[in-house]
Amino acid sequence: MQLLKSIATGLLLGSSCLVPAAANPAPWPRSPAVPAHHHSRVAPKVFIISMFEPEAAAWWGVPEFDLLAHNITIPGASPVFPDVHCTANYDVCQLITGEGEINAAITVASIAFSPYFDLTHTYFLIAGIAGINPKVGTISSVTFARYAIQVALQYEIDLRELPDNFTTSYFPQGANAPDEYPTSIYGTEVFEVNNELRTLAASFARKANLTDSEGAQEYRSKYTGDAYTAATKAPSVLECDVATTDVYYSGKLLSEAFDNTTSTWTNGTGQYCTSAQEDNATLEALMRTSLRNLTDFSRIIVMRTASNFDQPHDDESALQHLRYAEAGGFEPSVKNLYVAGIEVVTGILNGWNSTFAAGVKPTNYIGDIFGSLGGTPDFGPGRKQALSDAGAITKRHFRRGIVIA
Ligand SMILES: *[C@@H]1O[C@H](CO)[C@@H](O)[C@H](O)[C@H]1NC(C)=O
Ligand SMILES: *[C@@H]1O[C@H](CO)[C@@H](O)[C@H](O)[C@H]1NC(C)=O
Ligand SMILES: *[C@@H]1O[C@H](CO)[C@@H](O)[C@H](O)[C@H]1NC(C)=O
Ligand SMILES: *[C@@H]1O[C@H](CO)[C@@H](O)[C@H](O)[C@H]1NC(C)=O
Ligand SMILES: *[C@@H]1O[C@H](CO)[C@@H](O)[C@H](O)[C@H]1NC(C)=O
Ligand SMILES: *[C@@H]1O[C@H](CO)[C@@H](O)[C@H](O)[C@H]1NC(C)=O
Ligand SMILES: *[C@@H]1O[C@H](CO)[C@@H](O)[C@H](O)[C@H]1NC(C)=O
Ligand SMILES: *[C@@H]1O[C@H](CO)[C@@H](O)[C@H](O)[C@H]1NC(C)=O
Repeated sequence: MQLLKSIATGLLLGSSCLVPAAANPAPWPRSPAVPAHHHSRVAPKVFIISMFEPEAAAWWGVPEFDLLAHNITIPGASPVFPDVHCTANYDVCQLITGEGEINAAITVASIAFSPYFDLTHTYFLIAGIAGINPKVGTISSVTFARYAIQVALQYEIDLRELPDNFTTSYFPQGANAPDEYPTSIYGTEVFEVNNELRTLAASFARKANLTDSEGAQEYRSKYTGDAYTAATKAPSVLECDVATTDVYYSGKLLSEAFDNTTSTWTNGTGQYCTSAQEDNATLEALMRTSLRNLTDFSRIIVMRTASNFDQPHDDESALQHLRYAEAGGFEPSVKNLYVAGIEVVTGILNGWNSTFAAGVKPTNYIGDIFGSLGGTPDFGPGRKQALSDAGAITKRHFRRGIVIA
């Protein structure tokens, strides 16, 4: 606030009348314990990425560690969640992005570009709740994604004006109908993370005894019918992919439409199972910092626990499902962030010297749709177009002007 005010005053008065720095000392860092010089940057082994308070609080006051031992105020973080939290030895830190794509992108970028951290060897554990496709899994389950798809980055026409032969309101930018490949590529449509690391993280998480609730048990039992067998099973650890969109959608048709989008944009490799509002944004920030060697894109784990289904069962409407039904999944899904997540965190810490310090070598392509980090994306028939766009972008990016390291 103070900083903003002084900048605003400076702007109003003109640059020759800037308020002297001494009169308005920078309000950060708040904690005197924060090392500011290069040699003692905070270098966490694991950075937990939470999106809002209940997801974050699931990790507080637990027997394994005290995440609230240090609070570090980072410029650019959400005004609601200004602090990064760290354990006493700084091995584990946590940031809270604020919800939605904009909050996630700016918070993660601010922290990953911050001179207070050395994140070159840090594992990022995205740990949030999500909607789940009842055709793939059930509430209270824990999922680990390989792909993150920005499914609503598309054209949309209201249903009442939709051509009769369109199956859904959404169709990709640059395309003339649903389920074509987009030809206008922004670069954040699809991200792919380290599949070997995902397998390891899921195997750690399978050691956990997942929490469930009576309410969740009762609600999932209403998903009768052959398509919903997965919904009626007990919660488990799954490896399947996450859709990102600011639009909090609900319903059988949007679920199917975004399932189709995932399939088209990953050339049939991705399996849509969860919906959330941040992951592509977080991944884009980590991609850009990895491009500068400030983070390592092969050290990202995308974990989502299922708090609700993304569509109603057969005896309720989409609106009833979204706003009025009590699915009972919120509490167990938040709890399972910690219950499963702590196995991942301790798995990484215990295996640090033997495995994780050096890194887990990916055998799949990792990065964005452009191939910005090198290599060739193995998803998407549109990759040829994307790669030629990327070539142009890479040249522009690296050949223009002075690069400030
Ligand atoms: C860090 O912030 C939390 C609240 O977000 C507070 O409970 C805790 O005491 C703070 N820790 C320190 C060391 O100030
Ligand atoms: C978000 O990321 C996922 C997987 O990483 C990817 O499949 C999807 O296309 C991305 N979507 C957007 C809009 O960036
Ligand atoms: C819908 O019908 C129009 C007009 O006949 C046709 O040009 C278009 O290809 C059709 N689109 C789809 C998605 O079938
Ligand atoms: C899970 O429950 C089993 C049986 O009660 C127990 O042996 C095991 O230690 C538990 N695992 C964890 C990680 O708590
Ligand atoms: C999804 O794709 C299938 C197969 O192409 C198609 O039959 C279905 O109508 C699509 N669903 C939606 C909602 O677009
Ligand atoms: C990042 O590291 C790689 C491999 O060591 C190196 O080739 C590249 O030039 C570095 N990029 C930047 C921006 O420092
Ligand atoms: C890892 O190696 C360091 C430095 O050699 C040592 O202090 C630490 O105890 C080792 N940690 C584990 C879990 O073995
Ligand atoms: C898409 O997958 C098919 C096989 O399933 C493969 O033949 C084709 O080359 C892939 N396309 C791209 C662009 O990766």
